[in-house]
Amino acid sequence: MLPRRLVGQLLAGQLLVAAAAVAALVAVAGRLTAGVVLLGLGIAAIAVVTAAATGRVLARPLRGLSRAVERLAETITPRRTWTAEAADLTELTAELARMSSRLRERLDELTEERDRAGQILDALEDGMLLLDGAGRLLVANPTARGWFGLADDLRSGLPARRVLGVPQIGELAAAAASKRAPVSGIVTVVFPEDRTLSVRAFPLADRGLTGRIVVTMADITQRHRVEVLRRDFVANASHELKTPVAAVRALAETLQTALPDDLAAARRMAGRIGRETERLDALVRDLLDLSRVERGTLAVEPVDLTGLAKEVLGSHAERAEERRIELRGELQAGTTVRGDRAQLALLISNLVDNALRYTQNRGRVRVCLDGTEGKAVLQVVDNGRGIPSGELSRVFERFYRVDKARARHSGGTGLGLAIVRHVAEGHGGTVEVESELGQGSTFTVTLPVSGPPVLPLPG
Ligand SMILES: Nc1ncnc2c1ncn2[C@@H]1O[C@H](COP(=O)(O)OP(=O)(O)OP(=O)(O)O)[C@@H](O)[C@H]1O
Ligand SMILES: [Mg+2]
Repeated sequence: MLPRRLVGQLLAGQLLVAAAAVAALVAVAGRLTAGVVLLGLGIAAIAVVTAAATGRVLARPLRGLSRAVERLAETITPRRTWTAEAADLTELTAELARMSSRLRERLDELTEERDRAGQILDALEDGMLLLDGAGRLLVANPTARGWFGLADDLRSGLPARRVLGVPQIGELAAAAASKRAPVSGIVTVVFPEDRTLSVRAFPLADRGLTGRIVVTMADITQRHRVEVLRRDFVANASHELKTPVAAVRALAETLQTALPDDLAAARRMAGRIGRETERLDALVRDLLDLSRVERGTLAVEPVDLTGLAKEVLGSHAERAEERRIELRGELQAGTTVRGDRAQLALLISNLVDNALRYTQNRGRVRVCLDGTEGKAVLQVVDNGRGIPSGELSRVFERFYRVDKARARHSGGTGLGLAIVRHVAEGHGGTVEVESELGQGSTFTVTLPVSGPPVLPLPG
């Protein structure tokens, strides 16, 4: 159909040119002669022949072009029916113009979709990597780049194993690729920071390109730490309870046998039982204190921190005197904060208790209190044994003791500073420590005078 129409169009054009040529000759000659007629007929015949020849020459490529347009139209606008049969050059041109604008729209849509996907990846709190079948890193979102210390302009296609510095990610990806199913695992990263990651690798069902693996990662460092702490907590609490309980039991049995004929020995046993139960008592009290402050209910009221610190100092005076430790208060009068009085007393008391416990006889302990600019700053300063710098960040963890054997001997269970931190943070404040081994320690608690932050009611 197309060539015939096309030949018609070409023929019409050519004949028009022939007629124009004859008309021109008539105009020149001034009349219509037999020669002119013959010439006209000759020109018309040539027009018919060339139109037919051109039509045949053009027919094949045009048919091909028409089929290509038909296929393209099918891909771009599947719902529209394009009939190449009915098409001529004008329609072909119009269709191509429509397709080009449709193509531009699709391209814009795709660019927008790609940008949106990119923005989502950038905003993700989780890490995301894309690896190819050969274990090369193709994409890493900003979170993952931060976790692995990767440069922003890192070249795509480098071996993941080398770039990430941990072989396990590549191994999980390879396992997922060979199983053709998601594979999960826990991976520990040490550089640039210690981090525990929960990793999931799953193979992409790519069109054409196969073997690509998406790796998603969640930071479970904190959860992992809490789990370890909780496990430690139970193990430590049982252990701490077991030792004095076993001692009391053994002493009670010995006491029973010693009682009738060795009163002096019996008295010694009773004394030791008393000391062991004191340890038990302290441990149970610490545990109760911790669970109370961790439950998070605060009885907030205005608390005279100066008066409270004086009371705590008073209750430790006798112990300080026994150890010849100079216990001094430098307390700014009238320092008041809003808070839970019992918990704040626990905070000060734990810090003073530590300062006395970890300071040698004849040492010095100072409690300073200052209230300025809406903050109350409490410092407990000692010149005792100090804390090694590597342990400073850990002393606030539950059951953490710098020197376990020595601390147990001195009666500590490692809960005091956990309580202090909990109380300080519960009041919207902070606690910090500075220390030099063998020189002493300074614990600084900063509390907002206005008290704990008001949390919005749930719902
Ligand atoms: N003022 C200090 N000087 C030196 N070391 C300290 C001081 N305060 C705390 N520490 C170290 O920090 C560790 C944790 O202290 P924390 O108060 O939490 O526990 P504890 O004193 O051992 O036991 P308790 O639960 O009875 O308070 C201590 O075991 C000790 O090693
Ligand atoms: Mg303590």
